[in-house]
Amino acid sequence: MKISILSVSENIYSTARLIEEAEERNHQVTVINHTKCSVLIGNHKPKIIYEGRNIINEPDVIIPRIGSSVFRHGAAVVKEFEMNGVYSTAKSLGIARSQNKVRTLQILNRKNVPIPKTVFSINPDNIEEQIELLGGAPVIIKLQEGTHGLGVILADSKKSAKSIIDTFISMDTSIMLQEFIQESNGEDIRAIVAGDKIIASMKRKGTKDDFRSNIHRGGSGQRIYLTHKEEEIVLRAAKYIGLPVCGVDLIRSNRGPLLLEVNSTPGFQGMEYYTDVNVAGQIIKFIEKNANL
Ligand SMILES: Nc1ncnc2c1ncn2[C@@H]1O[C@H](COP(=O)(O)OP(=O)(O)O)[C@@H](O)[C@H]1O
Ligand SMILES: [Mg+2]
Repeated sequence: MKISILSVSENIYSTARLIEEAEERNHQVTVINHTKCSVLIGNHKPKIIYEGRNIINEPDVIIPRIGSSVFRHGAAVVKEFEMNGVYSTAKSLGIARSQNKVRTLQILNRKNVPIPKTVFSINPDNIEEQIELLGGAPVIIKLQEGTHGLGVILADSKKSAKSIIDTFISMDTSIMLQEFIQESNGEDIRAIVAGDKIIASMKRKGTKDDFRSNIHRGGSGQRIYLTHKEEEIVLRAAKYIGLPVCGVDLIRSNRGPLLLEVNSTPGFQGMEYYTDVNVAGQIIKFIEKNANL
């Protein structure tokens, strides 16, 4: 197969691993830097121009590895490939949905996937009431489009919550409020999905002074097996968001597992390191089975 990875660099761990595993299995692999693609539309033969040539008909399969800061353009490039009949491991709609945590939680709540109690509003006049909707402080304040644990804030008191929320609203930054799941003890679960299977999962624990468990924030991981209920949540989340390959974050609460977010471009480095699973290889195998070529 001709596989193109949409990524800003072939030196990123996950991109490099996908190249390695795809070549190992005798596929032709190229890396397309989607931030350097120009898309021409306006007739029946759209073009995606990259390094001076039209590449729209080149790949059989694309693996989007779109960073958060360029997701709009990235998702639009993916969309153009999709409409041209190219198989993608992440649908453009799924990329856009998962980019925004509120949108993700709205969709999944509607499908009865359990989530932490969440409030969103842009009204600066009733912040106390918003905090009270969650049962008062402490509360989590999150950027709707944050990643890597940046933009997730724990406010211990109503007073500090109020001033933080005030600040974000005045800066026109989209945030959401969430009940603080204290009993998770700074741990969460990351699972990587390929189709209807979970190919790897780990528990992550933050450093001793941090309630956030992201590896990017210094957290560490440990391979775990998910409960049946957790597996069900992970697979349903991936399905409803529309991402055949993705990462799903859960948190364990007193009332059972709760979904935190879905990631269209999960990193493999921590997962492969802590679980010993060949995540990149599993994704290539998934493509071989599902691309219908
Ligand atoms: N409601 C919450 N209660 C307790 N901890 C949370 C809550 N939401 C997030 N966290 C912690 O913060 C981390 C980052 O939150 P997450 O929603 O996954 O955003 P990001 O996109 O930055 O990873 C989580 O992995 C978890 O450890
Ligand atoms: Mg996360």
